[in-house]
Amino acid sequence: MKPLVAPSLLSADFGNLGKDIEMINRSEADWLHLDIMDGVFVPNISFGFPVLKYVARLARKPLDVHLMIVNPEKFIPEVKAVGAEIMNVHYEACTHIHRVVQQIREAGMKPAVTINPGTPVSLLKDILPDVYMVLVMSVNPGFGGQKFIEHSVDKVRELRELIQLTHSDALIEVDGGVNLDTGKRLVAVGADILVAGNFVFSAPVPEEMIHALKSL
Ligand code: DX5
Ligand code: ZN
Repeated sequence: MKPLVAPSLLSADFGNLGKDIEMINRSEADWLHLDIMDGVFVPNISFGFPVLKYVARLARKPLDVHLMIVNPEKFIPEVKAVGAEIMNVHYEACTHIHRVVQQIREAGMKPAVTINPGTPVSLLKDILPDVYMVLVMSVNPGFGGQKFIEHSVDKVRELRELIQLTHSDALIEVDGGVNLDTGKRLVAVGADILVAGNFVFSAPVPEEMIHALKSL
C-alpha cells in the first residue's frame, strides 16, 4: 500500500510561507500537517491560530492539525474555525482522552490521538474503536529535523496488530525523522501516512521528495 504524505509546515520558510504553501498545493502531497506548540507541553513555541487562519486560506490540501499543547480541548472551536479536517491531540495532554475524542467528532472533525515515544501503544486499546487515526511520534515532539527513534518501527508494527485485534479502522500516521529509508520501513510494518518536515523542505526540489515518499 502506498502511503499518504503530509508535509509539515514547521520546516518551511516562515519568511515566505505563501510560497511554500503554493508548492505543497501543486505537489502530490495528500494533507498539510500543521504543528501548534505552547512552550509548556513541549519545550518550543511554533505558531498559533492567527497564523493558522492565513495558512488555511491559502492551503488547498486537507489540514492535519497536530496540537502539542496542554488542554487541547479548549481550542476545538478555533481548530474547527480554520476548517481543519483532522485534529490530533496528545494522549499525554488529556486527562479525559475519551471525552476529548467525542468532542472533536461532535465538532465535525476527525479525531486523532498522538503518542510520544515513551508512551506504550497498549494504552490505546480502549480508545482505538473511537479514533480516526493514531499519530505515532518517532521523535520527542517540539522540533523539526531530529533523528528518528528506531523503536518507532516496532511500535507501528505493534499498533497495526492492536488495530486488527480491536476491529478498529484507525489509520496510522508517523511523525519525526521520516525520510526514504525510515519511511520505507514504516510503510512495510503498517504506516498509512508519513509526515515529513526537514526531509521535504531541505531538498533543492521539495516536490520531488514528496513524490519519492509517495512512491515508497
Ligand atoms: C515535531 C513535529 C513534526 C516535525 C517533523 O514535534 O510534530 O511534525 O515537523 O519534522 P521532521 O520531519 O523534520 O522530523
Ligand atoms: Zn507534527
